[in-house]
Amino acid sequence: MTATSSVHGSDLLRLVGVETRVPLVTGEERRYVNLDFAASAPALERVHDAVEELLGWYSSVHRGAGFKSRVATTAYEGARESIRRFVNARDDDAVIITRNTTDSINLLAGTLPAGTHVVCFAGEHHANLLPWKRIGVRYLPVPETPAEMLSILEETLRGLPRCEDPHLVAVTGASNVTGEIWPVPDIARIAHENGARLLVDAAQLAPHAPIDMAGDGIDFLALSGHKLYAPYGAGALIGERDWLSAGDPFLRGGGAVKLVTVDETLWADLPDRQEAGSPNVVGAVALGVACDTLAEAGMARVAEEERALLDHARRRLDAIDGFEAYRVWPADHPRVGLCTFNLHGVQYDLLAAALSAEHGIGIRHGCFCAHPLMMRLLRVDDAEAHRLVEETRAGHHERLPGAARMSLGLGSTREDVDALADALAQLAADGPRWTYMVNADTDEYEPDPDPRPLPRLRMRLVDHPHGHGESA
Ligand SMILES: Cc1ncc(COP(=O)(O)O)c(C=O)c1O
Repeated sequence: MTATSSVHGSDLLRLVGVETRVPLVTGEERRYVNLDFAASAPALERVHDAVEELLGWYSSVHRGAGFKSRVATTAYEGARESIRRFVNARDDDAVIITRNTTDSINLLAGTLPAGTHVVCFAGEHHANLLPWKRIGVRYLPVPETPAEMLSILEETLRGLPRCEDPHLVAVTGASNVTGEIWPVPDIARIAHENGARLLVDAAQLAPHAPIDMAGDGIDFLALSGHKLYAPYGAGALIGERDWLSAGDPFLRGGGAVKLVTVDETLWADLPDRQEAGSPNVVGAVALGVACDTLAEAGMARVAEEERALLDHARRRLDAIDGFEAYRVWPADHPRVGLCTFNLHGVQYDLLAAALSAEHGIGIRHGCFCAHPLMMRLLRVDDAEAHRLVEETRAGHHERLPGAARMSLGLGSTREDVDALADALAQLAADGPRWTYMVNADTDEYEPDPDPRPLPRLRMRLVDHPHGHGESA
């Protein structure tokens, strides 16, 4: 790779399945245009190949005496080291392998010292909003600007009881709805000046920008392998040891102990203490290889190229009649490669269905597991929000307000973005060309009829009514 060639198009960063062709309702086929990286990203070929290699050596880790166990254990521990380096964690930080960001944040929430005051903004993804509820959390309103966010945070932390109780600030690194990148070094400074620690939810940041835990003063960081081109079921929580090793572990069971009698349990040290049960060796190794591969490519270059593609996307999309993109902070604020929008006159779920059925384009739609932020962006007032809660509580199917989101990743091209822009322009001008109906089970539009055959795969395929479930 030369200094000027595109890192996104390089062999190093090739993804599995980029050439996959999908059927359209018209009977034609086209290359799948994946603009849904923020929800879940395909595997890097390097990750896929490493997993295949590992499977030949797969065996139990940590406690097996067999040679394969030794190899699998070194691969598992190697992954921990790769993750540590990727986020530039401090040497003494714990790297705990989890299932994903949700699991990581719940783990931290489940091990916080008693009496911890948690402060978090209402615009967070549910993964960084709900786990704190069982501890007691101060939710701050969605801030209008980064400067307002910093000053509200400072004021709030200053107002917390000056006691020995620990304080934790929990923020996103980049919003999964607006893409806006939060000023983490400034947040860390304010948190530390006021005796608080900082957790960064890096689910959306890690795939798109360099992370520097040591340099930026991030005390804890959570991320997901499936958003980081390693969709094999592992994530990580990285951070300071004292809180994570003080009390009982989040999960209790085998592997997390030194010695057990019926009366007593001596818990293991970190990281084993927080990794009870048989670990996901394949997932961890996949995540480690993804981290090494991205580090080799250079996350600064990945970020720079994505920024240029996002600028192109915004120029094309903003020119479409009826296109409205959502943001909280000023338009020139740095953001990762995603855009949440509506096209006036076409319902967001109908839009997503038509993009898939007629154009072979995959995007996300709904409320993106960030209901409070979406209510604010969609201008749903408190009375209407309350009505929706009551209707839903009563078991009535309510069509919730929502939006569509396109998101970029490795291998995204101008061609992909142009395909979306052309399709949206056509939908804005003429509406869908196929017929759609609202499915009574899901309350979402789907093609009617839908003649697209599922591919023949070596596994059982059972239709799942999506809708009503949550989207990331
Ligand atoms: C900002 C953010 N945080 C947390 C999560 C949760 O990630 P996971 O579902 O991998 O636990 C997501 C998923 O979309 C996200 O976008």
